[in-house]
Amino acid sequence: MTKTTAAITAVSGWVPPDILSNKDLEKMVDTTDEWIQSRTGIKERRILKGEGLATSDLGAEAVKLLCKKRGISPEEIELLICSTATPDMMFPATANIISDKVGAKNAFSFDIMAACSGFIYALTTGSKYIESGQYKKVVIVGADKMSSIIDYTDRATCVLFGDGAGAVLLEPNNEGYGVLDSILRSDGAGRVFLHQKAGGSAKPASHKTIDAREHFVFQDGQPVFKFAVTNMADVSAEIMEKNKLRAEDVSWLVPHQANKRIIDATARRMGLSMDKVMLNIERYGNTTNGTIPLCLWEWENKLHKRDNIILAAFGGGFTWGAVWVKWAYGK
Ligand code: UT7
Repeated sequence: MTKTTAAITAVSGWVPPDILSNKDLEKMVDTTDEWIQSRTGIKERRILKGEGLATSDLGAEAVKLLCKKRGISPEEIELLICSTATPDMMFPATANIISDKVGAKNAFSFDIMAACSGFIYALTTGSKYIESGQYKKVVIVGADKMSSIIDYTDRATCVLFGDGAGAVLLEPNNEGYGVLDSILRSDGAGRVFLHQKAGGSAKPASHKTIDAREHFVFQDGQPVFKFAVTNMADVSAEIMEKNKLRAEDVSWLVPHQANKRIIDATARRMGLSMDKVMLNIERYGNTTNGTIPLCLWEWENKLHKRDNIILAAFGGGFTWGAVWVKWAYGK
């Protein structure tokens, strides 16, 4: 019998309507549109506005659309995994809240936290539940309301991030399509360069932590940049070599959208021209767990059955990795 693989059978995305442009940021911090575009590739990002709206609301919109597209009821979902770095609350899991909001009454659900690599960690984890034969409908959601942990007086970070969510449905396939391989890595020593200092068990919230602005993203950009360029490019080349994929065999690179310069370096290392690279950083900035599924959603109409697609990410932790997907539908 042919091996069962986890095919992506539908994709969806959702971004909030409010735009925060580079021009807007020029009025908030000492920066310029020229600096932001030349150093990162970002022109604008989306911000979720509205009292009480959270990451689960972004994720729920994406899951509702996903079910509609595939023509299934949310009650058919057996497992829902949400990767996020901005959970609604410390607990319960945002995945539980999304399941409740969409009416996925029969799903068990949990979160995965791997910062910007979360979506590929969750995709790999979810695919194992399909490969085992135990489940037939698994939803992976990548969602982040980054604006909830961004210090809009810190020019080093506030220009980079935006809010958004994307989701994919995994179903069993016996024809060799879907998630075919993944290489995932982490190195906790990298935590010093990218983290949120307070609000966890190491430093619970206090007046002192609030006064010190420690509930926001802290990033030492240059070391993160150096590690990201090397590791994202290396692991992408490694997954190609491991699976004997030549540059001409790869139809698309779907990179995490943190910085266009990191993406360019990864594509170069893989021998891919930029017309094979999904790029929407210009419009959404870094949506952390949302970047990869948002790309798949926007490029869906250009994808063909049998396309070899490499997803690659690097993020806080450090965490990084690459996933090889053979696209399961389209012409
Ligand atoms: O997604 C998770 C993983 N994260 C990443 O992969 C991000 C990796 N890092 C980066 O993408 C880049 O390091 C940044 C985009 C964050 C920064 O770019 P950079 O080229 O590394 O700039 P830098 O931090 O070395 O700063 C260069 C200069 C500094 O000024 P001086 O010291 O040379 O006078 C900064 O103060 O640019 C200054 N600067 C800014 N200037 C205008 C930093 N941020 C800004 C800003 N506008 N927003």
